[in-house]
Amino acid sequence: MAKLVGGLGTSHIPAIGGAIHKGLQQDPYWKPFFDGYPPAQRWLAEVKPDVVVLFYNDHGLNFFLDKMPTFAVGAAPVYNNADEGWGIPTLPPFRGDLDLSWQVINTLVDQSFDITTCQELLIDHACTMPLKLFWPQGDCPVAIVPVCINTVQFPLPSAARVYALGRAVGAAIKSWDSDKKVAVIGSGGLSHQLDGARAGFINKEFDAQFLDSLVSNPEWATQFSIYELVEKTGTQGIELLMWLAMRAALTAASPCVRKLHSNYYIPISNTATGLIVLEAA
Ligand code: DHB
Ligand code: FE
Repeated sequence: MAKLVGGLGTSHIPAIGGAIHKGLQQDPYWKPFFDGYPPAQRWLAEVKPDVVVLFYNDHGLNFFLDKMPTFAVGAAPVYNNADEGWGIPTLPPFRGDLDLSWQVINTLVDQSFDITTCQELLIDHACTMPLKLFWPQGDCPVAIVPVCINTVQFPLPSAARVYALGRAVGAAIKSWDSDKKVAVIGSGGLSHQLDGARAGFINKEFDAQFLDSLVSNPEWATQFSIYELVEKTGTQGIELLMWLAMRAALTAASPCVRKLHSNYYIPISNTATGLIVLEAA
């Protein structure tokens, strides 16, 4: 059976891609952000996952307001980047793992999750930035299974439902008949709001509580409604649901996780940026 080795959470911002492209990692503005990543990169180089299941939210690229699945799973052999254009100008296609995609899709449908199956899927910075941050050199060494969760257009799935989805994805990975090693990634958040009267809103206290909860009390965030979470984290901070799905998936591997590393830095662009590395204990 496949091995679920651990999970990582990271923020995604298109401007990170621009900074990578321009080589600004040591620039005073960017340094505290990029300095967070080497421990995560070293851990990944050590455990060498073959595949990554990546929970992310599309930003109106592949899905627009006219057709918005609550949950969508990629089942494509390759995924092409087609971001808004302020990130890395060109990125080679990312490899998919069809076998794990269908394992996840079959398990989710079996467990009554209504998902959209995507045999073609364009990916944006939410998918590509974590991969470039965790594997900065050369081609991405892992295959991916993108799992997209709607945080763009109401109604959004509740935190409890996202947690249940994550658990089911974790169970699918655990029961996958394969000798591959799998890691899970949650891409989004932490608190930020890009528009409206509260543009620039950041909630350091809530972010800290949320980061703590991921280690020892993973269901903590499920007590809040979507409206409460938007109030506490911002209209885009709600992307932290991706981290919750990642953490829920890990419960399939073991009841406990070990926090190997974390970073938190305010702000990059409009976002409170976070990073966490959790190993299945
Ligand atoms: C920013 C943050 C995001 O989550 C995103 O998807 C795009 C931009 C920002 O802070 O600039
Ligand atoms: Fe985003």
